[in-house]
Parts: sequence; C-alpha cells; structure tokens
Amino acid sequence: MKRKITQLALIFFISSHVMATPPVEEGKAIFSSRCAACHNVNKVVTGPALAGVDQRRSIDWIINFVHSSQTVIKKGDKDAVALFDKFNKIPMPDHPDLTSDNIKSIVEFIKSEASAGTEKAPFNKPGKLRPVYTPLSITNYGFFIGYLAVVTLLIFGLLMAVKVKNMERIMRRNQ
Ligand code: HEC
Repeated sequence: MKRKITQLALIFFISSHVMATPPVEEGKAIFSSRCAACHNVNKVVTGPALAGVDQRRSIDWIINFVHSSQTVIKKGDKDAVALFDKFNKIPMPDHPDLTSDNIKSIVEFIKSEASAGTEKAPFNKPGKLRPVYTPLSITNYGFFIGYLAVVTLLIFGLLMAVKVKNMERIMRRNQ
C-alpha cells in the first residue's frame, strides 16, 4: 500500500513536470489570442513589428506599456509618444490582467519567432521556418534542470524497485 502511494506520487510529480508549459509555448498562446490581431513579429500590421522589441525597450517598459499604453503615453514617455504618433494615434488596448510572467513569456516567444526567420526574404511565408519544438537553450535552464532531475529520479526509482525485488527474492530464499 505504501509503495503504491509512493509510486503514484512519483508519477504525479513526473507528469506535472513534463507537462508544465514552457514559456515560449505560453507566450505563443497569449500572443495568438490577444496580440496577433494587430501585431506580427516580423511585419508591421496595425501595430509595429515586434521583432527586437526586447532590445529597443527595457522589460519594465514593455510590461507597463502592455498593461496600459495610454498611461505610459500620458506620462510623457518620449519613446511611447513618438510611437503613438507614428502609428496614427491608434491606442493599443490595455491588458491589465496579464502578469509580468505572461508578458515575459510573450517576449520569449517574440525572440524565438524573430530568430526563426533569419533569412528575411520579403516573401518569407510566416510559420514555415518555425522549429517543431523550441530548442533547449541556456536561457531556459530552469526547465532543463527540472527535466534532468526528473530523468535522474526515474532511473533512481527503477534501480530501487529492482533492488527491492532482489531483496525480496533473497529473503524468501533464506526463509
Ligand atoms: C488593437 C490593436 C492592438 C492589440 C490587440 C495589441 N497591440 Fe500592441 N500596439 C498597437 C499599436 C497601434 C502600437 C503602437 C503604439 C500606439 O499606437 O500606442 C502598439 C505597440 C506595442 C508595443 C511597443 C512596440 C515598440 O516597438 O516599442 C508593444 C511591446 C506591444 N504593442 C505589445 C503588444 C502585446 C504584447 C499585445 C497583446 C497582449 C498587444 N500589443 C496587443 C496595437 C495593438
């Protein structure tokens, strides 16, 4: 009985880890549902192309702007005002419910999309160069370490199970 519970706990732990959404995937989902109507990573649509936004703005600036762009503009932020003028004073809707982590995930997604289209041919079909799965990079080493831990645990668990089975066999023989 005790063994069963431990096994169940182990399975639960492993599946919750493996199924945790990596940031890029989360960012992609939010971007598609809430930003893609006006933004494309590599093309100007209603709003600016977002490729390289992490280089021209600080992450705090991006978070504030996505939460409430008009607040940033009204405060007189030079970059925001210039952008607002350039885009015909179309106000970007507020997204106050997105957490900082959500927005960071969107930026991670933008980065991955921007680097996926390195050959910036004018007729580059979007989506064609997308990797099937975001490669593990140093930047998401948290995920990587978690993954390694899970694999190690799994191997350890299997070894233990074999050990216990062997011991049971020996004990039975000695009775
Ligand atoms: C209704 C259209 C619309 C939607 C939806 C929208 N945006 Fe925007 N966005 C704009 C416009 C227009 C601008 C240009 C600035 C302005 O006019 O206020 C902009 C500017 C930005 C900028 C600044 C870009 C730069 O070059 O500095 C960021 C970052 C941004 N948007 C992110 C987002 C994110 C993230 C979402 C989804 C959560 C989103 N936007 C949804 C229209 C939109």
